[in-house]
Amino acid sequence: MMRNEFDFNSGIGESVVKHPQLVKLYMEYDVDFCCGGDRSVDDALKTDCGESAREVREKIKYMLTQSETEGDKRLDTLTNEALIDRIVETHHAYLKSELPVISSLLFKLLGVHGETHPELYLVHETFGALKVELESHLIKEEVKLFPRILSEDSEVKTLIDELEGEHDAAGDALHRLTEITNHFTLPQDACTTYALVYEKLKTLVADMYMHVHSENNILFKRL
Ligand SMILES: [Fe+2]
Ligand SMILES: [Fe+2]
Repeated sequence: MMRNEFDFNSGIGESVVKHPQLVKLYMEYDVDFCCGGDRSVDDALKTDCGESAREVREKIKYMLTQSETEGDKRLDTLTNEALIDRIVETHHAYLKSELPVISSLLFKLLGVHGETHPELYLVHETFGALKVELESHLIKEEVKLFPRILSEDSEVKTLIDELEGEHDAAGDALHRLTEITNHFTLPQDACTTYALVYEKLKTLVADMYMHVHSENNILFKRL
């Protein structure tokens, strides 16, 4: 086996822990990577993608050759300062601009479809709590943690534990949103706003995977 060849017999859940960039692809093809139990990647693709399984396999291989040069390896070589800049300019900027947009679209959706799709109340509530938590999380990182890392303050351990706990809580909330919406499956009577909100929530899940990965597994590991 080549050094970085992807193992299609490994667990589907394990594959996103190792390669979080796959989340985006899995979500695009409705591959269940979080609630699929012990399925191998191969089994999951066969069951969830049907005729597209081969296409998804090729895309996985392609993505991983790209990421070998552009993904983790590159993040790993960045200085703390450059890595922090990257996190703030990509993931934090994304959340600051998208959280309010998703929030207002969801509020609108609740008014129009809440009566016929009562699960939207739970989506609205879960997202609202997540938004509030993520906003304070971003500020804690930008105002407290990142400046301390850059000034080489050694007293960051307790703060990192707290922030990692918040990452887990955000992950749980995103998992709940995925379950409540049955993997962001649109109902038959879904309008354009419905489709837009679910698309944005899928992007949020994928972006958060990369964001938390850059922090937990790269930046925080150095400290
Ligand atoms: Fe962050
Ligand atoms: Fe974070």
